[in-house]
Amino acid sequence: MDAQTEKAIESAEGTTLLRALGCIGPEKDFLNPDDLAHAFLGDRYKRFLKLYKFFPSFFLKVLERRAPGNFWYIYSRTVFLDNALSEAIKAGVEQVVILGAGYDTRFYRFERDLKGIPCFEMDFPGTQAAKIEALEQAKMPKPDNLVFIPIDFTKEELGETLFNHDYNPALRTLFIWEGVCMYLPKETVHEVLSFIKQNSAPGSFVAFDYIRHSAVNENDLSGYGVSEVVAHAKNINEPLLFGFEPTTFKEDIKSLGYDLKIHLSPQGIRAQILKGLKIKESSLNVECAYLATIEATG
Ligand SMILES: C[S@@+](CC[C@H](N)C(=O)[O-])C[C@H]1O[C@@H](n2cnc3c(N)ncnc32)[C@H](O)[C@@H]1O
Repeated sequence: MDAQTEKAIESAEGTTLLRALGCIGPEKDFLNPDDLAHAFLGDRYKRFLKLYKFFPSFFLKVLERRAPGNFWYIYSRTVFLDNALSEAIKAGVEQVVILGAGYDTRFYRFERDLKGIPCFEMDFPGTQAAKIEALEQAKMPKPDNLVFIPIDFTKEELGETLFNHDYNPALRTLFIWEGVCMYLPKETVHEVLSFIKQNSAPGSFVAFDYIRHSAVNENDLSGYGVSEVVAHAKNINEPLLFGFEPTTFKEDIKSLGYDLKIHLSPQGIRAQILKGLKIKESSLNVECAYLATIEATG
């Protein structure tokens, strides 16, 4: 396995671990909805998960020291993007694409609601192969309407790859882009958004998260957990390459052909998604990560 594949799998497994832990505790009213995440963990993380069940508060303290704010950010991101999918289903979405899917379980958790709707998961070939193997081991058969598409967004044409797998640009589509755009060069992020804008029906959405640009370029590392996020990405040799600036986000995506539908800052995430959580206010979620849903204006 090459180094890039190993990094990508590790990175996907890291967020999956946080979802699996979050599904167990520490607060019963704020459990991560991803109750299938555990199926994708390797032995090392499975052992961790077992111990966590008995001592969640202790393990959370350890996690919080290593990656401040990440646990509750990942909880918030899962809830936000699950909501985006639920809303899209209610509104009659006709096609769903998950870009950089890693161990995303949405096509399994929402299988019944998505019956008959074409669904695509795109990811690095190595990450996707590891996921398919984990699915086989967990005896989770692939839903009939799901197509796995291996791709390197920086090297292959998104459009050509999707069209080769029967993607239909005439359908109202939801694109989920979770924990991915920060690792891509700016040109690739713009190419992806430009393709979606030109090749999806009116009423198509992109739901995703991004990191504040001033944190990515290290001009402003203030805020809870921010310097740790940037340092961690460097340490594991998966540097952050791209960010939007939140103050100009609305205009920036407008110039790419999108209308802003929902935009949550770290404060907005605390007020809307984490409201009522009995954890001290200053240490809830990492303060450079934003959640957004944007609509392709066609
Ligand atoms: C942090 S993981 C997030 C995975 C998943 N979306 C989640 O939230 O758990 C980043 C994902 O982006 C994928 N990725 C990163 N760069 C990519 C590229 N150039 N082409 C395709 N996939 C890429 C990785 O394989 C990995 O699955």
